[in-house]
Amino acid sequence: MTDFYDTAERRERVILVAVSLGEKQEGGEAAADISLDELKELAETAGAETVGRLIQNREGIHPGTYIGKGKLEELREMIQSLQADTVVCDDELSPAQIGNLQEELQCKVIDRTVMILDIFAAHAGTSEGKLQVELAQLKYRASRLTGLGKSLSRIGGGAAGSAGGIGTRGPGEKKLEMDRRLIRDRISMLNRQLKNVVSTRETMRKQRRNNAVKVVAIVGYTNAGKSTLLNALTAAEVLEEDMLFATLDPTTRSYEFESGQKILFTDTVGFINKLPHHLIQAFRSTLEEAKYADVILHVVDCSDEHYEIHMDVVYDTLKQLGVQDKPVLTVFNKIDLLPEGAGQVFRDAASEAAVRISAKKREGFDELLEKLEDIMNAGFVRIEKTFSYDEASKIQLIRKYGNLELEEYTEEGIFVRAAIPSEYVGQVM
Ligand code: GTP
Repeated sequence: MTDFYDTAERRERVILVAVSLGEKQEGGEAAADISLDELKELAETAGAETVGRLIQNREGIHPGTYIGKGKLEELREMIQSLQADTVVCDDELSPAQIGNLQEELQCKVIDRTVMILDIFAAHAGTSEGKLQVELAQLKYRASRLTGLGKSLSRIGGGAAGSAGGIGTRGPGEKKLEMDRRLIRDRISMLNRQLKNVVSTRETMRKQRRNNAVKVVAIVGYTNAGKSTLLNALTAAEVLEEDMLFATLDPTTRSYEFESGQKILFTDTVGFINKLPHHLIQAFRSTLEEAKYADVILHVVDCSDEHYEIHMDVVYDTLKQLGVQDKPVLTVFNKIDLLPEGAGQVFRDAASEAAVRISAKKREGFDELLEKLEDIMNAGFVRIEKTFSYDEASKIQLIRKYGNLELEEYTEEGIFVRAAIPSEYVGQVM
């Protein structure tokens, strides 16, 4: 028994519950199991300890209590014998389901969405991220306000209860008690703030395009090592004095190749399986960095046995965001965790556009950067610039080697929008 050690700082003890729809579910019977493995990782990330798991095979999700009567009884017994504080259901629950379950089980019940939001709340580093998380949390709570406060207040307590526990970070318990009107006011205020942040981001994007700086969006499943890679690659890079970069949020960093070519790396929020559609909406402006990037760096934790599923989640999410037809460099990270001498061949790894690295040990960076530079230079750069009338020869150059999309004569000069081979950027800009 570890109770002795547990008394000082006992972690929230959670039981994970899923419903397996069998063959009706994508991925078949194994899907619920894999999904629970991941829920366990999410619970750990949120600071909880998984003490039990329960899967019910069912034709469909029970509309009232998520799982059926018999399993409910089994779960009740598990909660008692395992001294669990919280039940986490693998699907998004309706307000009624949460209320009924809490009533039946006399235990805090949360769902996957709350867990994901909780993790995002703990990790959000930028002002935009924080606004997005709070907004998503408030919207989620506003839609579940009726009845929830009542059943929660009766439960509470428990080891982790005093510290709040999962699902109570962020806006906090106090805000839960705000009436709908207050929440609505707060939501519209956050929406306004977010709009400002988003428009600043758009202005920055435009400036980057004008300056022909290429953008590499780092995407990947949560925990793949995106931030570690971004930090390792750009640690030595001092933020440019250039005003353009001075205002960048901390998730975008500049990098200069040996050739002198400058690029921007931008980190995105980690992708998670079953990220509910409305959450994708909530994080759209961050995720859209991928949409406006020139190259996608897809970081994969290849030491994870489910890495192929994670890759699919990333591809699907990119598709949902409308990110297609962009060059992708697949980065198989954490090779230091693979068994010695494992000549493992990863999916897609045979392609030119894949490298194996360890972000933590800084291995494989040379090859990564080399391939990235190749991909960049294989393509064209988009430019938007007003040329003075005596710079007409530059426009000739664009016409000859690039693709002139728009040419407008204005008082200030000739406004041009074009795509040009990157090697001509220096001559033209
Ligand atoms: P999210 O913010 O959740 O999307 O995560 P992320 O993709 O930014 O991952 P992050 O960089 O935070 O890394 C997740 C964990 O993996 C950290 O504990 C890192 O130390 C670890 N990690 C990252 N790269 C490597 C690696 O090459 N080898 C090993 N062994 N661990 C790594």
